[in-house]
Amino acid sequence: MKKVNTKFISELKRENKKFSALTAYDYSTARVLDEAGIDIILVGDSLAMVALGYENTNNISIDEMKIFTKAVAKGVTRAMVVCDMPFMSYHSDIATAITNIGEAIKSGANAVKIEGSGEYIYSLVKRCTDFGIPVIGHIGFTPQAINAIGGHYIQGKTYDATLELLEQAKKLQEAGAFAIVLEMVPEESAKYISENLSISTISCGAGRYCDGQVLVSDDVFGKYSNFKPKFARRYGDMRKLIFDCATQYDKDVKSGNFPSEDEVFHIEEEELRKYEIST
Ligand code: KIV
Repeated sequence: MKKVNTKFISELKRENKKFSALTAYDYSTARVLDEAGIDIILVGDSLAMVALGYENTNNISIDEMKIFTKAVAKGVTRAMVVCDMPFMSYHSDIATAITNIGEAIKSGANAVKIEGSGEYIYSLVKRCTDFGIPVIGHIGFTPQAINAIGGHYIQGKTYDATLELLEQAKKLQEAGAFAIVLEMVPEESAKYISENLSISTISCGAGRYCDGQVLVSDDVFGKYSNFKPKFARRYGDMRKLIFDCATQYDKDVKSGNFPSEDEVFHIEEEELRKYEIST
């Protein structure tokens, strides 16, 4: 099976074919997603909220991201593993950013995702691509800037705002990014941006016309119940499944129904005779 790479993603755009991306934070989930044919597995900084219970994504460190990236990378053979660079791991200066991005790649990521725009971000993207590190940009609603944005607001709602996003996307493309996540952007704006780029766009709440789609897997599986974004589709009720299994297990343990004869080990008859107590 051929590993998904940047060339494959670019070919899909040329052939007008879509690709899928989901987040994963652990080995066993990543393995299932890979087997299911998901093309890009993102170790999203969303793990701060859904796996670590932090209030927002800004509290997670590169050291924590490395642990989860290693676990995910071990479970994946085909998909491209992307490490989401966490808040302040790439902002202070290029040298520190490159060190941290290098750590993400050494942890098993095949590419990194970087939020934002502006000259500093474009030069960082260029530096990474010069070094052979594939980069996915991320514009529109950028969760790491939640304090500046002031809430989960849709971005690119007007023609002028869309032109601004397109300008940012083009700069990221020029700098060498091979794809760009558009988060919480009206689909008309996302369509216009996608049609005016040669690299792929990945929708995260940006409608039907992007080249790929990405969602947080806990939303898709119905595991994270704190809230569900309008743009996410729940394909299952994993929270209920886990709850039902856990309550049944609890009942079985407390009633003596678990473990059963099939679930215990025995010692040989000969050894058993040496015991003074009967079993
Ligand atoms: O952290 C994340 O999960 C993301 C999204 C694009 C899904 O950045």
